[in-house]
Amino acid sequence: MKLNLCLRRLCRAESIRNMEFLHVVVFVLLSALVGAQVPHWGPCPEPEVQQAFSLKQFMGRWFEIAKLPAQFEKGRCIETNFTLRTDSSIRVVSSEILKGELKKIEGTGIIEDPKNPAKLGITYSYVLPYSPYWILSTDYVNQALVYSCTDVLRLFHVDFAWVLGRTRSLPEATIDKAREVFAHNNIDVTRMIPSRQLGCDKTL
Ligand SMILES: *[C@@H]1O[C@H](CO)[C@@H](O)[C@H](O)[C@H]1NC(C)=O
Repeated sequence: MKLNLCLRRLCRAESIRNMEFLHVVVFVLLSALVGAQVPHWGPCPEPEVQQAFSLKQFMGRWFEIAKLPAQFEKGRCIETNFTLRTDSSIRVVSSEILKGELKKIEGTGIIEDPKNPAKLGITYSYVLPYSPYWILSTDYVNQALVYSCTDVLRLFHVDFAWVLGRTRSLPEATIDKAREVFAHNNIDVTRMIPSRQLGCDKTL
C-alpha cells in the first residue's frame, strides 16, 4: 500500500517535470524566433497610457532616442514619420541608415479600440498582424514613451520600448525620467540603450 502511494507520487512528480521541460523548450524556441531577445516570465505588464491622447498632435516626425532591447546590429539615425491617411489609418514611414545606405519601410497604424486611442497597432506587412504600439506618455512637442508587448501563452512576454524625441537628442534628465516611468509601470528597462543619432545629416 505504502509503496503504491509512493509510486503514484513519483509518477506525478515525473509528469510535472515533463511539463516544465516542455515549457522551457517552447520558451527557448520562441526566444530564438523573436531574434535572440530575452523574454520575461509572466504575462505582459499593463501600463497606464497617455490620457486624452490626441492622435493628430502625435503625427509627424519622431526620432528614436533610446530603445529596448539593445540591437547593436541595427542601423542608426532611426526615425519615423506618422501621417494621417484619408481613411483615418496612419501612414508610418520608418527610416534608418544601415551600412551607409538610407533604408525606408512603410507601414500602417490604426487605433485598435476607440475607447483607448493611445493604444495603436502597427504593421509593416499585409501578412503580419498589428503589433501593439502603446503611447504611455507624450507631450507631443518634445518626447514620447512607447511600449509594445506580446504575450506568449501568458507564460512569458516579449517587449520593446522606445523613447522618442522631436529632436535627435533629448536632455539626459528627460531620458532618466522616461526610464522611471517605464520602471514604475513594471517594465524592465535595465537593458535600454541610447540610439545613435550622430552624423545623420552628413551621410545623406
Ligand atoms: C512625412 O510624411 C509627409 C506625408 O507623406 C511628408 O509630406 C513629409 O515631408 C514627411 N516628413 C519627413 C520629415 O519625412
